[in-house]
Amino acid sequence: MDKRPIGVFDSGLGGLSCVRELEQRMPGESIIYFGDTGRVPYGSRSREIITRYARQDAAFLRTFDLKALVIACGTVSTTAIDTLQREHDIPVVGVVEPSAKQAAALTRNGRIGLIATKASIATGAYERAIHALSPHVTIFSAACPLFVPLVENGRTRPGDIVIETVAADYLAPLKRSGVDVLVLGCTHYPLLREVIANYMGPEVRLVDSGAEVAHSVGQWLAEHDRLSDGEQGHYRWFVSDCVQGFQDMASRFLGRTVTEPVELVDIEQY
Ligand code: DGL
Repeated sequence: MDKRPIGVFDSGLGGLSCVRELEQRMPGESIIYFGDTGRVPYGSRSREIITRYARQDAAFLRTFDLKALVIACGTVSTTAIDTLQREHDIPVVGVVEPSAKQAAALTRNGRIGLIATKASIATGAYERAIHALSPHVTIFSAACPLFVPLVENGRTRPGDIVIETVAADYLAPLKRSGVDVLVLGCTHYPLLREVIANYMGPEVRLVDSGAEVAHSVGQWLAEHDRLSDGEQGHYRWFVSDCVQGFQDMASRFLGRTVTEPVELVDIEQY
């Protein structure tokens, strides 16, 4: 048993797709969340900058006594997980392996689609992880750089002409290629789940990277006897900008009113 909180971070709101799942599956766990809302998006930046930001995000969260650190960000998971795992002496878990495992298990026709940020696609990390499990599948990938800013601006609802147009443009080639599984390789994308599912159709299974990392952390904690025995965990929210916007969006995405205060962090200090 371990009552210490889990640290979760993302470049912004995307990591809430992981928190939502953690909260539903393990309500007794306490979570400290950091969203780097002042520097989002990460996905169009260089490896060096992403690594620097990731190290600062992790250093801030390590000012708390954590039992695990969850990189609820595809871009950091594909780019800087090795650095963070080397530099931290607690389990550091990213979204790539859990999502790859689920995609490989779900596909029936061996054609897997992958959407993620430009930086994530450029690393080839998802492809390597999927091929390590299923060497013969074919992966069709597409970067969707406009999705993150649209999500951060709340343009997530089916029927919103802007998001529907952008989604159709990005997803059309994947739909044509006949994939039966689509990996939402950026944790912001599950917040567009309905729009993406409507476009791809019911025969395409979606893999939610935020939810998959939450499952995998839950499993790890259970196997290592590190689950909390509390009834209701405590949540703390930190952002590097736009406190009010975060509270509103977090309430929407978590499906409950976020009553805990959202605190501002000067992330450049870490
Ligand atoms: N949620 C991040 C990811 O999973 C968004 C990246 C970004 O900030 O561009 O990749």
